[in-house]
Order: sequence, then C-alpha cells, then structure tokens
Amino acid sequence: MTDQLENMRRTQTNGELRIKDVGKEVILMGWVLRRRDHGGVIFVDLRDREGITQVVFNPAVDKAVHAKAHAIRNEYVLGVRGKVDPRPEGMVNPNLPTGEIEVTVTELKILNPAKTPPFLIEDNIDVSETIRLKFRHLDLRRSQMQQNLILRHKATASVRDYLNSQGFLDIETPFLTRSTPEGARDYLVPSRVNPGHFYALPQSPQMFKQLFMISGFDRYYQIVRCFRDEDLRADRQPEFTQIDIEMSFVGEADIMDITEGMMAKLFKDVLNVKLSLPFSRLTYEEAVGRFGLDKPDTRFGLELKDISDIVKGSGFKLFSEAVKKGGVVKALNAKGCIDFSRKEIDDLTDFVTVYRAKGMAWIKAKDNQWQSPITKFFTDKEKEALAKRVEIEPGDLIFFLADQPKVVNEALGYLRNHLGKRLNLINEDEFKFGWVTQFPMFEFDETEKRLQALHHPFTSPVEEDYSKLKDDPLSVKSRAYDLVLNGFEIGGGSIRIHQRDIQENVFEALGLEKETYEEKFGFLLSALDSGAPPHGGIAIGFDRLVMLLCGESSIRDVIAFPKTQKAACLLTRAPSETNKAQLEELHLRMRLGLSS
Ligand code: AMO
Ligand code: AMP
Repeated sequence: MTDQLENMRRTQTNGELRIKDVGKEVILMGWVLRRRDHGGVIFVDLRDREGITQVVFNPAVDKAVHAKAHAIRNEYVLGVRGKVDPRPEGMVNPNLPTGEIEVTVTELKILNPAKTPPFLIEDNIDVSETIRLKFRHLDLRRSQMQQNLILRHKATASVRDYLNSQGFLDIETPFLTRSTPEGARDYLVPSRVNPGHFYALPQSPQMFKQLFMISGFDRYYQIVRCFRDEDLRADRQPEFTQIDIEMSFVGEADIMDITEGMMAKLFKDVLNVKLSLPFSRLTYEEAVGRFGLDKPDTRFGLELKDISDIVKGSGFKLFSEAVKKGGVVKALNAKGCIDFSRKEIDDLTDFVTVYRAKGMAWIKAKDNQWQSPITKFFTDKEKEALAKRVEIEPGDLIFFLADQPKVVNEALGYLRNHLGKRLNLINEDEFKFGWVTQFPMFEFDETEKRLQALHHPFTSPVEEDYSKLKDDPLSVKSRAYDLVLNGFEIGGGSIRIHQRDIQENVFEALGLEKETYEEKFGFLLSALDSGAPPHGGIAIGFDRLVMLLCGESSIRDVIAFPKTQKAACLLTRAPSETNKAQLEELHLRMRLGLSS
C-alpha cells in the first residue's frame, strides 16, 4: 500500500463520530489503546485526548490493509482512512460516546511503532506512583489525567475571564528575587556575576503585588508559580500555583466579594455547579473552638466540646492538672460507636499521638452506666454535667483529650475529620466553602522561642490593637482571612499594612532588629512612605482547588509534572549532581555533610 496518508490531515478527533455520521469517509489519527483479533477481523480502539473510536480491519474489505494490521501493538501511533459504519446489533457500547459506530479501515499508516509500555494506559491501573511519575508522559495519556489537565485549563480560562471582566491586570513578577517570607525555607539560586550572592525563588509575589498598588495598578492578578522548600504532603508541592490577587482602596468585604464571584463562575463553568453565596463565615476562635482546626470541614457535625470548666476540680488528676497548667480538656462524641473494639480505640489513640497528644481517654455509654477506665474519678454531678454538655446518649463512644489548647484542638480536629470519613458523615458531592476571619496576628513558636506572623508580616493588625503591638502582641488580632473548602485551606489573604510606622512595629514585635529589617525590607518600607494606598488581597492555592474540583486526593494528580515527597522529579531525575566546572563558574565549592 502506498503511504497516501502522508500528507493528509485528520478529519475528526476520536471522540466526535456519532450515528449521524454513518456513511462518511474520515481520517483518524491516534494511539492504539488495545487491539483485539477476532479470528479474522481485527478491532483497534484508537485513542486521542478527545476519546476513543473503534476501527475495524476486515479482510473482506481489504486484504492488504488487514494483513498490515497484524503488526499493530498497544500505543502504536496510527493514521487510518475509512468509512463510518453503524455497529452490528449487540455490539453497541452504551458507555462510549462513539459506541454506536465503528470505522471500517481502507487505508492504514503506522505513523510510529511503540515499545510495550511499562503499564497499561488505562484508568484505575494498579501501578505505583513511582512508576507513573517515572513514565509521566505515558501516565498523562490516561483519560483520567487528561481530564484533570483539561479541567485545570478550563479553570484557568474561567478565572482569567472573570478577573479580566472585573478590570484586573495580569502583570508578571520576577522569579529571581529576594526572599519573601511566607513561613517556608527558600530555594536559592547562586549568582554567577555576583560571587557569594544568591537569589531566592519567590515563596509568593507578596511584596511585588503590594508595590503594584503603590505604583497605581490598583487591580492586579497573576496565575503564578510559587516556590517553597517545606515538608511535602498530599496537598503540598515545592512549586505550586496561586491565583494571586491584590486591590487598592478596599476592605475585607471587597476581596471576599471578588473571590466569591470568581468561585461561583468557576464552579459554573467547569462543573456546572451553582454555589450559594455568600460563603459562611467563622472567626478563627469559633473555628478552632468548635472544629479544632482553622480549616474546618463543615460538611458534618461532630463538634468538639470544651469540658475544662466541668473537670477542673475533678478527681481525675490528668484532667484537673491540665486545666491548672493553662491547658484545656475537650471531648468528641462519636455517636453510636459503642461497638468500637479495644484495638480500634488503641489505633485511634495512635492516630492522635501523631499530633503530639500523649494519650486519649474514652467513655462508652451503656444503657444505664458508663464503661471506662476513668468514670470512677467523676462525681455524679460531674457526670451529669458531662452528659449534658457532650450530649451523651446510650450507644455513644466519647473521646477526651487534656493538654495545651494547640495540641488538644489539633489532635481532636484531625480525629474529627478521620471519624467523619470513617463514619460516612460526609456528603462527598458537596462543596462547602467558608471564610475564617479574625486570626491572631502572631503565634509563639515553641522551637524558635519567638513570635511568628500567623499569616505574613505585611498583614495589617486591626486598628484597635495597634497600641498592643509592643506590650501584648499575642492578643493582637489581624485583618487576615482564609478561604476553606471541604476542610482544605485553599486560599488566604489580608488587608495589608500601608503605613511605615505600623510595619516597623510589626517587624519589631517579630523580634527583628532595625538593621535587619531595613536591610531585608528597606525597599518596601520606603515604598510605604511614598504614598501607599490602603490595599489588600488574597492568593488561592490553585492546585488544591483543582484537586477538589477533580475529586482527587493528591495535588500531584492535577499537576502535569509534580515532585515526589522528596522533592524529586522522577522523569527528568531532578535534582541532579552538577559538575566542577559549573560550580566553579558560580564560585562555589562542594562540601557535603555540613548540616549533620
Ligand atoms: P499563603 O501562604 O496562605 O498566602 O498561600 C496561599 C495558598 O496557597 C496554597 N499553598 C500551597 N499549595 C500547594 N503547595 C504548597 N506548598 C502551598 N503553600 C501554600 C494554599 C494557601 O492557602 N502571599 C500570601 C497571600 C496573600 O496574603 O495575598 C500567601 O502566599 O492553598
Ligand atoms: P494513665 O493514667 O496514663 O493510665 O491514663 C489514663 C487514661 O487517660 C488512659 O486511657 C490514657 O490513654 C488517657 N490519657 C493519657 N494522657 C491523656 C491526655 N493528655 N488526655 C486525655 N487522656 C489521656
């Protein structure tokens, strides 16, 4: 056969053909998903990103073409010309959009053969993520990954549409820059022309977007990469993408409105889901008090109950002592879980230990008595008060933690999420957004023994608390807000400091010497002095958002080329060693092991 397909264009993608196309002559191109040899007739599922079409090689139609089709293997790249035929009765595949037709091939060109892939290019494959990441170009051929990246593209397009229509300007910011403090370690890039000097890749464009406001670009956005060298998890990557937004002459409500409008359009555009606006709001205190975490999953109840006041004088020393030492005691009522075995309870205790809890007490509520190692310590009055506060009914299993508030809230908060899933309390089809507001400005970092900004140091304190920055910084509230979706922090922002003196006070509260902050942030301070408008903004963690839109549980599944837990790219094998010449050019010498 001659290669008549050589200069031909495909007329169709593999997802397009329907019963109405029967009789047409078409040219299809794509990859072989599978080949089935049915004693004489060969069927091939031809795949591209739009879908699959069954193409048929029938010796009765063309002997030579059929003979050539014997060579076809999985993942070969083919071009075929043929006629659209209805599938014979009983052969219709209702699960496939093209399932009513097939293409009877009259010309075949093998555009490129392929080696047998290390795994089948199919969804729900049982193959380790290591292999998938090593052969990412093949993994990305799978329909699930294709759909994820297509959805990601639609989400980007929708966001741009929305922000453009609201008068925002998309302006780029540098990657080779100075450190931007967002609480992680920096990725450093050595400068060849400035020996001993390093750029830091931006943890976010935070300072640049504030400078845009000062320059008069009062509505800025960018869908931008950020770099953070931190411990990685399923929802964290060393490089990730933000929808970064900043506006001038605004308060919290304006930023929230824009964000809600953007989300509403996005969910309509990509999932055809109508979000109900405005999103609910919780203060930080309420969120942590009721759900243990500042990113509460509010799709289900199972709220924590503070029982410190009830047990503060109790005979159970572990509880009363904890309260005396400034700690709290909280309870979580796992309704109807009385049948959990000792082993199950031990496993849940191990679970909370990860969050630094030292143990976990429990009570099983039987019909007329409580079964537990700790009930004997409580008076009838205490028991009555507990039963009321924690809404204890027969059949319940109640967990208790006593410790410093941070430990209790975090451990019970994650236990709550864990039980919510395990007890099927969560409607997985629901998208529950919420704002968390009124964060404290600072928290005390136990390891470094100094204050840290809960958001970043450019976040404005609430005006009433300006005077407390010096003497009582831990009581200062900030004008920060986080956006939470189904228990994930998908965004955060704040109204910023626009006055130099307040910014200096915040740096000082953080324990920075004047010299240090002048050296690091002098350019920003002097910009604040040069007519800085009141301004604020937000950044949405785009990968996390897309992960939730796709119903995935790891952001690695919505990033084309993600890194592993060890920040490695298994496909390109980055990071890699470098050679002496390159190091010399950068004025560097390798001496490993200095940190150990
Ligand atoms: P923040 O540090 O809260 O704020 O980041 C904003 C959002 O980005 C996402 N995110 C991440 N996603 C994946 N991998 C990571 N390593 C990662 N780190 C953060 C989260 C988070 O809510 N400049 C400020 C924003 C502002 O104040 O306007 C900032 O970067 O979803
Ligand atoms: P112990 O006195 O260590 O035997 O502990 C008595 C019970 O209290 C056990 O069920 C422990 O798991 C539990 N427990 C230990 N530490 C804590 C804690 N910090 N908060 C709540 N319960 C605890």
